[in-house]
Formats: sequence, structure tokens, C-alpha cells
Amino acid sequence: MNKKFLNLGLQPLANKYLTKKEKLSNFKEDFYRLEVCFNTKNKLVSLYKKINVKKMFNNNYPYKSSLSLTMLKSFKELSTMIKKKFKPKLFLEIGSNDGALVQNFNKNKVICVEPCSNLAKITKKKGYLTFDKYWNFKLAKKIKSKFKTVNIVYSANTLTHIENLNDVFKSITHILSKNGVLIIEDPSLLECLKKISYDQFYNEHIYLFSAIAVKNIINKFKLEIFDIQVLDTHGGSLRYFIKRTSNKSILINKSVKKQIKKEINFGLNNFSTYKKFAQKVKKSRNKLNNILKKVKKNKNIIIGYGATAKATTILNYCGIDNDTIDFFLDTTPGKVNKFMPGKNIKILPYNKKIIDRTNYMFLGAWNFKKEIFIKESKFISNGGKFITHVPIPKII
Ligand code: TYD
Repeated sequence: MNKKFLNLGLQPLANKYLTKKEKLSNFKEDFYRLEVCFNTKNKLVSLYKKINVKKMFNNNYPYKSSLSLTMLKSFKELSTMIKKKFKPKLFLEIGSNDGALVQNFNKNKVICVEPCSNLAKITKKKGYLTFDKYWNFKLAKKIKSKFKTVNIVYSANTLTHIENLNDVFKSITHILSKNGVLIIEDPSLLECLKKISYDQFYNEHIYLFSAIAVKNIINKFKLEIFDIQVLDTHGGSLRYFIKRTSNKSILINKSVKKQIKKEINFGLNNFSTYKKFAQKVKKSRNKLNNILKKVKKNKNIIIGYGATAKATTILNYCGIDNDTIDFFLDTTPGKVNKFMPGKNIKILPYNKKIIDRTNYMFLGAWNFKKEIFIKESKFISNGGKFITHVPIPKII
């Protein structure tokens, strides 16, 4: 049974940044009620109302993994580890984005799956076999008929976007070789609850996985987790290494028990934990609004740093408009000169000169805090302050 615990109000589609033309023509944005629920049976946390994927992943998807140094570094390390440990003959990536990971592998050994055609075009151009399709059983059958089996299936920040998890895992087990390994990584529910980072919830993140839920879901496909790595990426993620239960050549690492124990101890099995989280979210909203109000009272300009999908949840839930945050700065070409979804806040291209003239920046891309604080050390040493809401709203 799905029990609701969090209501983040009416929200626009994150990642649907409005163009100037759309703004001028009074384009009617799609709004939906963002509610989050807990499944008491398999312990999976998901959005109550799911949005049609075709509205979200199309030929205009702005996010590119290669634009982030943190992600590039993480993918480089991962590919070295995969090559050393698993020596893949054939590697399939579901949600290959612009090829930030596959570029570390030999072109003949890779299959990319990416439904956003603007991104699929990039890996095709680089010479990687790419299916610009949604991951489903039909596609798995097509790939199997050509390649028989795949040794490594990898998917980062993608499976949480696909509503039909049964189809996802059925399709993966269809093509995974007998001793093949599935590696998935996604934001961690435990980290989200610990950090009160409720902005992990938006239309694209249909699910927020815990190790407990992943274990429960894959069980019926005769799959099991044999290792878990804790990552810093995307505000705290888990990387799950999964094998067929029939494959006894790989031992189960103690990291699996350790993570599940941590999650049980935090209360991820209990609905009451989620109700408490919802209370903390409300407090977080009030505190952030108070901080912004105080800063604004002194006629300060506040810049939003990083026009993230996550920031869309914050702005629309907290009711933050362009009378509070004057504009956002972002390095992604597909976002600049557009407007934050649901709010009349313009996104300008990243510009150091503008930053030099500013005292306050709201950290929209808080998940890249380390990278950003290094990049903006001059702003900080000149007395500039960041405003963040994670883990508690404060000025840094
Ligand atoms: P992302 O981490 O993908 O967050 P979400 O999934 O919530 O959209 O997006 C990070 C955004 O921050 C991306 O648009 C690029 C931007 N950004 C900068 O503008 N400057 C930076 O130095 C970094 C690290 C990110």
C-alpha cells in the first residue's frame, strides 16, 4: 500500500526551462501536485502521481553529464575499476547521456541507450552504437537478438526515472549474461532524509531508492546486491553491484549488510520516520524564507548559483520569485537565457564579473558545493556569502 507523507504543492516540470518566446506568448506551463509516498510492503519511496515520460525526456533535454568535472572524475574512476575487475566483453549503458562514461571504453565494446535524441546524437557522432530509445523489453529483445548477452549493464540516475520497474528489471535479466553484473547508481534515500534535501523530489525522480527497497524489488528477478559503494555525487548516492542469485562465483561483500543496517537503524522501514521528515521539510522552508527575507531587506542582490532541477522544487515549494532571487547563473548552454520553471527568474550565462559585484548567492547546485567553493574562492575571500538549505538553511 502506498501511503502519502509529503506534499510539495503544485510544481511545474523540472528541466522544462521556459524560453523568452514562451514567456512572451504566455505559454501555459504544466503544473502537477508533487506528493511523495511510502510503500509499506516493499518500502519503496515514490512520487504519488507519475508524469508521462514523453513529456520529460525528448529531443530537448538540457542536462549533460560531461559539463561537470565531479561527474567526469567519478566516471573515469568507475571505468578503470570496471575494466580491472570485470573485464567486460560487452558493456551496455542505460541512459548514456552525452557519453561521459562510455568515452572511457573501447567503441567496439559498448552499447548506448538514450531516449533523448539530442544526447544520443552526441554518442552516435563519437562512433558509439546508440539506440535513441526508451529502455524496455522490446529493446532488450532487439539487442539480445543481435548480441546474445551483455556482461555489464550500467545505469546511473536513470532507473529512478522509469515508472515500470518490473519491466526494467525483466529487460535487464533478459540480456544479462549468466555471470554478468548490473551496476546501478542513484541518489540515496537515507542521505536525502538525513540532509532534509527534499529537492531530490521532482517529476523526473519517480523513485528515491534505499538498499532495502532495491533488495526487495530485485528479489523476484532472482537478482541480489553483492556490493554497495557510498558516493558523494548528486548529493549522496549509492552504487549497487548486482548479480544473479545463481552466480555463486561472486561473494557478497559486507558493505551490503552494513548499508541495510544503517537504513533500518535510521527508521527507513517505518512510516513514522517519513512523517517526521515531512515536518522537518516545513521547518526548512520557513527557515530558508526567513533568511532570504532578511538578506533582501538590506537591498542585496541574490544570485541563484546553478539552475538545477532541484532548485525548481525549492522555488515553487517555498514561493521564491524574482523579487527575492534576482537571476540564476548557469554553465549549461541549454538553460541560459531561459527562465526557471514556474517562476519568473531568468537564467544568465555564468559570468565571473557579475559574481564579483555580488554579496549573496543561493546555492542551487548544492550537490557540487566542494567544486563550487574551490571555483569561487575569490568570491568567498572577498566576503561573499552562500545561502544554502542543505542540511539546514543557513548563510555560509
Ligand atoms: P545537476 O547536478 O544535474 O542538478 P539537477 O539534477 O537538480 O538538475 O545540475 C547542476 C547544475 O549546476 C547544472 O545546470 C550546471 C550548474 N553548475 C554551474 O552552473 N556551475 C558549476 O560550477 C557547477 C558545478 C554546476
